[in-house]
Amino acid sequence: MKVLVTGAAGFIGSNLVHFLAQERPDWQITALDLLTYAGNLKNLSSVLDSKRVSFVKLDIADDKAMRRLFEEGKFDLVFHLAAESHVDRSIMSSFEFVRTNVLGTQVLLDAARAHGVGRFVHISTDEVYGSLGPTGAFVETTPLDPTSPYAASKAASDLMVLAACKTHNFNASVTRCTNNYGPFHFPEKLIPLFITNAMEGKKLPLYGDGMNVRSWLYVTDHCDALLRVAEKGTAGEVYNIGGSEDAELPNREVTFAILDMLGKSRDLIQPVGDRPAHDRRYAIDHSKITRDLGWTPRTPFKVGLEQTVTWYLENRSWWEEIKSGAYLSYYEKNYANRG
Ligand code: NAD
Ligand code: DAU
Repeated sequence: MKVLVTGAAGFIGSNLVHFLAQERPDWQITALDLLTYAGNLKNLSSVLDSKRVSFVKLDIADDKAMRRLFEEGKFDLVFHLAAESHVDRSIMSSFEFVRTNVLGTQVLLDAARAHGVGRFVHISTDEVYGSLGPTGAFVETTPLDPTSPYAASKAASDLMVLAACKTHNFNASVTRCTNNYGPFHFPEKLIPLFITNAMEGKKLPLYGDGMNVRSWLYVTDHCDALLRVAEKGTAGEVYNIGGSEDAELPNREVTFAILDMLGKSRDLIQPVGDRPAHDRRYAIDHSKITRDLGWTPRTPFKVGLEQTVTWYLENRSWWEEIKSGAYLSYYEKNYANRG
């Protein structure tokens, strides 16, 4: 089986490559990534030693390069994760979000169809559904109502994938997952940012009243769901993937848990101005993937968070290297005017 993983040097992509290398040892995996600010080859260093995983640095929005890659690669299966993924950056500038997430997805779809790819899994997000009130959960038929440029670009890409299924009988499925956490998570997102800031004795900038709710899923559980969708999912279908009930938490609670695990004071919390159009609550009804593909989230939040905190404690050089240079300019820009 020849498999392409796009966005393979990012957070979820690199965890997926590790997971597939372990779970499907006979697969030949091509790991593709443009190595933007969020991509890091170190995330793949232990698997790149094996002959079963090879790396290519390419841009998914480069039509010629993609057609050449697909012609030579003869892939049976594609996991498409490459994306611009951070909501705050999409608010500062949206261009790359449309270029990579929308145009890049269409370029991949065209190349995959032209070269007879048998199965395509498009990794999307619950953010396409918008914001929930205090009760209820997103189902696969919830109308799309994205509120950030990031979420809007993901919704557009989902629709292009589903259109290819309808128009061209293309064998693709779309997955929509809640917030992931775990090793190799870029320290611009809440959990890795707050763990590393706390380790450095820096303030933790909590947006608004800290009561926005996210549903957290340990990244390996997400990878397990993606493999099931690839192997047993149905063409043209959307699958919601989400955390267990204990993992649906206001940001304040997540922040307290991180500080407690690190033995740090809650005085490090710094309430700051809110994210524009900050979605109040996400929650996923994942009964479809449970019923059809036998998947459920396995890792309790407390266990997953402890594993994650331990990973950041043990891999200080990984994140210290990231939190320098261009990262510091981004940080300054994002947090400067929040009061
Ligand atoms: P990430 O930002 O850590 O990784 C994205 C990767 O894509 C990076 O390695 C980057 O270099 C690469 N990339 C960006 N532009 C590219 C281009 N033009 N060509 C090739 N590679 C390019 O993101 P992540 O958190 O790992 O998310 C992966 C996917 O999962 C995204 O599609 C995201 O929308 C989706 N998702 C993420 C979460 C989450 O909580 N992190 C939840 C649900 C869905
Ligand atoms: O729901 C899935 C989505 O989860 C993915 O599609 C996105 O790629 C991923 O980035 C994530 O989006 P969020 O916006 O929910 O994640 P983030 O870590 O940026 O923020 C989580 C919550 O924490 C959110 O309510 C905003 C808040 N927050 C975030 C940061 C970075 C803060 O309070 N302070 C911060 O500094």
